[in-house]
Amino acid sequence: MLGIESSCDETGVGIVRGTTLLSNTVSSSMDEHVRFGGVIPEIASRAHLDAFVPTLQQALHEARVTLEDIDAIAVTSGPGLAGALMVGVCAAKALSVATDKPLYAINHLVAHVGVGLLDGRAEGTSGPGTADLNASGLGAGGRLPEDLGALLVSGGHTEILRIRSITDDVEMLGSTIDDAAGEAYDKVARLLGLGYPGGPAIDKLAKQGNVKAIRFPRGLTQPKYMGSVEQPGPHRYDWSFSGLKTAVARCVEQFEARGEDVPVADIAAAFQEAVVDVITSKAVLACKENGITDLLLGGGVAANSRLRELTGQRCSSAGITLHVPPLALCTDNGAMVAALGSQLIMAGVEPSGISFAPDSSLP
Ligand code: KG4
Ligand code: ZN
Repeated sequence: MLGIESSCDETGVGIVRGTTLLSNTVSSSMDEHVRFGGVIPEIASRAHLDAFVPTLQQALHEARVTLEDIDAIAVTSGPGLAGALMVGVCAAKALSVATDKPLYAINHLVAHVGVGLLDGRAEGTSGPGTADLNASGLGAGGRLPEDLGALLVSGGHTEILRIRSITDDVEMLGSTIDDAAGEAYDKVARLLGLGYPGGPAIDKLAKQGNVKAIRFPRGLTQPKYMGSVEQPGPHRYDWSFSGLKTAVARCVEQFEARGEDVPVADIAAAFQEAVVDVITSKAVLACKENGITDLLLGGGVAANSRLRELTGQRCSSAGITLHVPPLALCTDNGAMVAALGSQLIMAGVEPSGISFAPDSSLP
């Protein structure tokens, strides 16, 4: 299965055989967006056009296969930037028609979870993060534990999901009601003058800060939102990060008003702790109260070192088995698209044909 990803700034092509990862090649246009402080859709689309063929060739080369060896093609059809999605979808349709191979349209968010079902590393696989897949992927031939949850934390989404079947039964237990966690990282990084993308910058700087120097609010944790097990409140498993972002802005303003240096590292650490604390506590609560025994962590923010650490600690205390994909498979890539496409084939799902359109706001 050849998987194609182009929903944002990463052009990704990955190749998977069953649940075995053969190659994962990613080209990013992030360098071109940095000076604008965010991804510029038009630039991203043009970059996909430039990068697609070389990325495809590299992925085939690393998997030691040719296009003739490919049995089927999968492509992200949404959600994402419309123009960016269009490039990947058109490329995938062209390949499908030219090679007469079936094409599968893939939901990018479910693919962030599906990547956890890869189980191994074949000869010839290279690239950062692919080596330790065995240690951290769900594996077991792609068979899902019966009570699987997924904590999906990316630039556009923060959700806790229950997955009864990766191909047709994914239920959302809770989600953010405003900003996504990654979006909060990016906005706070901008406030602190750390540049874009903010997640990795805050992650790094927070290591030098004192988490206890400031305490920022944890959104939607008051009793009126939480309720009890018997009578759940309206947002028991939901998150909100816009109040936290405002609290960070006020804090910076106060230091500036007093003419003091802004303690950027302390603020980064305290902000990160507030985000990670509330994400992990609510995710673990949702798992415990819904009989979920295995939790898969996915999405770009799953690359965050503190999130990985605290989720590990809290899952372990709660008796939940945590599965964390390697870093390279957390951020956007083609292998995750191929991994989910492969699950669809194994489940006997019919191909999508070539008349579907990309859907930038696919739920
Ligand atoms: O999943 P992803 O690559 O793209 C989307 O589908 O949204 O996630 C991108 C997000 C960005 O907001 C970025 O700041 C965040 O993931 N991110 C991180 C880290 N690495 C990436 N956030 C916190 N810590 C990190 N180490
Ligand atoms: Zn993503």
